[in-house]
Amino acid sequence: MTSAQTSDVSGTNALSPERRRGVYEAIFGRRDLRAFRPEPIPDEVLARILDAAHHAGSVGFMQPWDFLAIKALATRTAVQSLFERERQAAACFYDEPRRADYLALKLEGIVEAPLNLCITCDPTRGGEVLGRNSIPETDVYSTCCAVQNLWLAARAEGVGVGWVSILKPARLRAILGMPPHIIPVAYLCPGYVDAFPARPTLATAGWRQRLALHEVVAYESWGRRDDPHWQGLCQALTTPAGSVAPMRRGLGRVLDTIAAIAAPDEAALAAARARQDTLTKPPGSLGRLEAVALQLAGITGQERPSLARQAIIVMAGDHGVVTEGCAGRLLHPQPDPGTPAPRLPDNHGGWSKRPAQRPCRRLADD
Ligand SMILES: Cc1cc2nc3c(=O)[nH]c(=O)nc-3n(C[C@H](O)[C@H](O)[C@H](O)COP(=O)(O)O)c2cc1C
Repeated sequence: MTSAQTSDVSGTNALSPERRRGVYEAIFGRRDLRAFRPEPIPDEVLARILDAAHHAGSVGFMQPWDFLAIKALATRTAVQSLFERERQAAACFYDEPRRADYLALKLEGIVEAPLNLCITCDPTRGGEVLGRNSIPETDVYSTCCAVQNLWLAARAEGVGVGWVSILKPARLRAILGMPPHIIPVAYLCPGYVDAFPARPTLATAGWRQRLALHEVVAYESWGRRDDPHWQGLCQALTTPAGSVAPMRRGLGRVLDTIAAIAAPDEAALAAARARQDTLTKPPGSLGRLEAVALQLAGITGQERPSLARQAIIVMAGDHGVVTEGCAGRLLHPQPDPGTPAPRLPDNHGGWSKRPAQRPCRRLADD
């Protein structure tokens, strides 16, 4: 097919520009929310949202979902206690200061929301389901499609939704009186909210950032990030049409981050400065790096800021360590056989570990 023929058909079944914009607005403006206003959701609105969920695709048209609506405070309180136990248990998987960061996150609005919804999957529905033989989990995948429809329709209606998955299914089943073969796929808290933030709460909190789109698209074989036959898409991915202005998209993260910077936290600054003074190095010998470390402490309000993605930033400079042959060694995962790995004093923190022991991606080195 020629490109002329392609452009002939490209708009045939498309929604009008205004409707299309509405769909993308719901997609980009959808958020996971955990703080709610007390006003109830009118039944007609809730019915429309549930109907949207019920119109999701499903394997073999199985429609394995059920929507369990819960208002009773006693039930929601029991679910919240279950969440709290699981939240504490999950905290053990993190080391400090990540653990403290995790525990500071608000991860549910179970009692605050005017109602809860549990969306379940019944793997027995529909008997011999067309298309499910090879991948039995397609029943759960189908249920997730219903959840996503619900999430988007709710956004269009101005209703926020929070997904709570920090719940043990067996205990949740017991609270909700579910038979053992039913899978509670999603426990949701819907309700009106003051605002839909522009960015995920976890991103704003510095927990984790959205990956760049081009980092998750591959061509022709697993992990292949560029291919001469895909250059057009490759370029388009960095400036997806119809979402946000290209300039804003490219700089978005930087601008958002700068906008979020408030006055420095003086207590964190002082604590970081005091800690710097205890390190075994002449005061000020790391130059600008020491100032940057203090700035970071002030901005994040943490004496030792935790970084969602670790990075080793290498800057060129004339430093005595280079002539000793140590700096280069720190960069390379595989030291020369027979040469002992360089060691720095323990109170240099992570620097005494070689990069190979750290989950870092090496972007460039010399
Ligand atoms: C399967 C699933 C489970 C989730 N479980 C939780 C949860 O237990 N608590 C929570 O606060 N958010 C939960 N979330 C929401 C994610 O944290 C959220 O989708 C992610 O941070 C991106 O933010 P956004 O949805 O606002 O774009 C869950 C999301 C999904 C898809």
